[in-house]
Amino acid sequence: MEFGLEFRQLERSELGDIWRIDRSEVIEAIYYMENGQLVLKPERYDMRGWPPGEADHYGPILVDCFDRGGTFYGAFDGDSLVGVAVLESRLIGSERDQIQLKFLHVSSSYRSRGLGTRLFRAAEARAKTLGARKLYISSTPSERTVGYYMSLGCRLAEEVDPGLFELEPEDIHMEYVISSERPMDDAAS
Ligand SMILES: CC(C)(COP(=O)(O)OP(=O)(O)OC[C@H]1O[C@@H](n2cnc3c(N)ncnc32)[C@H](O)[C@@H]1OP(=O)(O)O)[C@@H](O)C(=O)NCCC(=O)NCCS
Repeated sequence: MEFGLEFRQLERSELGDIWRIDRSEVIEAIYYMENGQLVLKPERYDMRGWPPGEADHYGPILVDCFDRGGTFYGAFDGDSLVGVAVLESRLIGSERDQIQLKFLHVSSSYRSRGLGTRLFRAAEARAKTLGARKLYISSTPSERTVGYYMSLGCRLAEEVDPGLFELEPEDIHMEYVISSERPMDDAAS
C-alpha cells in the first residue's frame, strides 16, 4: 500500500475498467518531429475524457495483448482503478531486445503523486525479467507527457519501429534503457 492505494496486476475481467480512468487533461503545447528534432508548438486541447470511440477501438487491442501474455499493472483506490501501465510480451527491434510500454495512464486527480512512475518502474522490472534491454514508448506528443518521459530518462528512439510508427505517426517514439544496476521495484507484480 502507498498513499492508501493498492498496486497489483489486473485480471482479464477488469480490463474494461481502464476506460473509467479519468483521461481529462488540458494540453497547451504539442511536440512535432521535424528533421529529426523535437519542435514544440503551442496548441490547446481541453480533453474532457477519452476520445470518442477509443474504448471500442483500443479495448480489443488490449484484450489481445493480455491474451498473448501482456502484463497489466494497476493502481487502485478502493475498488476504483486510478492508474494503469501495460507492458507488451513480445521482444521487438532488430536486436529483439526491446519491449513496448503500450499504455500508461493515471486518472486526472491522482497525477503528480508518483503513481505513473511507480507503474513505469513495475513495467521496467518485468521487461528486464523478459530479457529486454530497452522499453519502447510511442508517446502522446503533448508537452507534459513527453517531458514526463524525458524526466524519467527516456530519449528519442534510436530505432523507430516501422509497425508502431505506422500505427501512431504523430506520436513521439522514445526508448528507455533499462538499468542493469538499479534495484527493481516489482511490487505490483
Ligand atoms: C504521464 C502520466 C502517466 C504521468 O503520471 P503521474 O502519476 O502524473 O506521474 P508522476 O507523479 O509519477 O511523476 C510526475 C513527475 O514527473 C516529472 N515531470 C512531469 N512532467 C514533466 C515535465 N514536463 N518536465 C520535467 N519533469 C516532469 C515531475 O517531477 C513530476 O512531478 P510534479 O508533477 O510534482 O512536478 C500522467 O500524467 C497521465 O496519465 N497523463 C495523461 C495521459 C498520458 O499522456 N499518458 C501517456 C500516454 S503515452
